Amino acid sequence: MELPDNTKQKLMQMAIEKHPGSICIANYKGGVGKTTLTTLLGYYLANQGKKVLLFDIDPQCSLSLAVGYNPEVVNKTDYTIYHLITPNKWSNIKKVPFIDYIDNIPDIRAPKTLKIIKGSFDVDKLDEVVIQAIVENPSAKEMLFTYCKNMLNVFSDFDYILIDCPPNKMYLTQAMLRASSYYLTVTIPDAISVYGMPRLLKWVKDIPLSEKPKLLGCVLNAVNRAGGNEYGTVNQQQATESLYKSVKPYLDTKEKEIVESSPVLAYLPRLDSISKFLSQGVNKEAWYELRRSASGQNSVSEIMMNLISRIQKRIEKYAKS
Ligand SMILES: Nc1ncnc2c1ncn2[C@@H]1O[C@H](COP(=O)(O)OP(=O)(O)OP(=O)(O)O)[C@@H](O)[C@H]1O
Ligand SMILES: [Mg+2]
Repeated sequence: MELPDNTKQKLMQMAIEKHPGSICIANYKGGVGKTTLTTLLGYYLANQGKKVLLFDIDPQCSLSLAVGYNPEVVNKTDYTIYHLITPNKWSNIKKVPFIDYIDNIPDIRAPKTLKIIKGSFDVDKLDEVVIQAIVENPSAKEMLFTYCKNMLNVFSDFDYILIDCPPNKMYLTQAMLRASSYYLTVTIPDAISVYGMPRLLKWVKDIPLSEKPKLLGCVLNAVNRAGGNEYGTVNQQQATESLYKSVKPYLDTKEKEIVESSPVLAYLPRLDSISKFLSQGVNKEAWYELRRSASGQNSVSEIMMNLISRIQKRIEKYAKS
């Protein structure tokens, strides 16, 4: 398909800057709520009228399934993240029909400004393809990064691009982290997950400063509102303190100014309504449940609105600094 003129124009001007609203939601630890947070952020940002593009780069395809794709059909197309990132596209970016990869959200109650680039169960094979490409050409890793950065810039019509990362260090995860303006970490308040986060921060710290994504902060997820100390969990205050300690050594100067005083951006409670939202999509009941505040606590909707407002303030600060 021929690209429209304005897309071609964007491709011509591209490449220097990163997409200003590109955010990776990441943690190398699995099952901590990355997909949950990406989905909630997508829905709430789009509900405020923002144009949001979800990027599913996890071979588990959880994000695509969460927004209503059937596992049987998610892979049956040539327009998934796998096809978008294959090495034959890297040096041919002007010929890639990017808009064909953007899909509507199947969930009919999803805001209309929310779109997705679907995941693929084949994404883990992409790493093998990338390794092969690196064997043949040592600059392949850089080419992948440059391609990802330029690709995100092509989607400049979107206010936000939210990238749901897998819980491991695939080449694609590394390239997308480097290609994004920001990253947001999420963890649950158990000792292993909290202490595990520095692996990601350490890796990001080694990216050259001019390419490094900026840390927006951390979301502490699945917090037990009753404050109990179940086996293996630490309470909210302990988790906040250990997060503070683990994040501090890895911050650059700008991140110190903006993030250090308050690394935790939000506390998301452990609630059935949140896990139902992810597994069953949005329905009237789910929206109602997320808006409901129990026993004087903030509702999930209020928490998400606060989180969005804090993220936007931090992005403004970074953009000004
Ligand atoms: N706040 C919460 N309350 C209740 N259940 C939650 C909450 N957050 C996440 N879950 C549930 O925990 C499970 C893991 O969440 P999720 O898939 O978002 O984690 P993840 O970090 O994306 O996992 P992976 O590393 O495998 O990609 C899901 O079943 C989800 O419904
Ligand atoms: Mg996930």
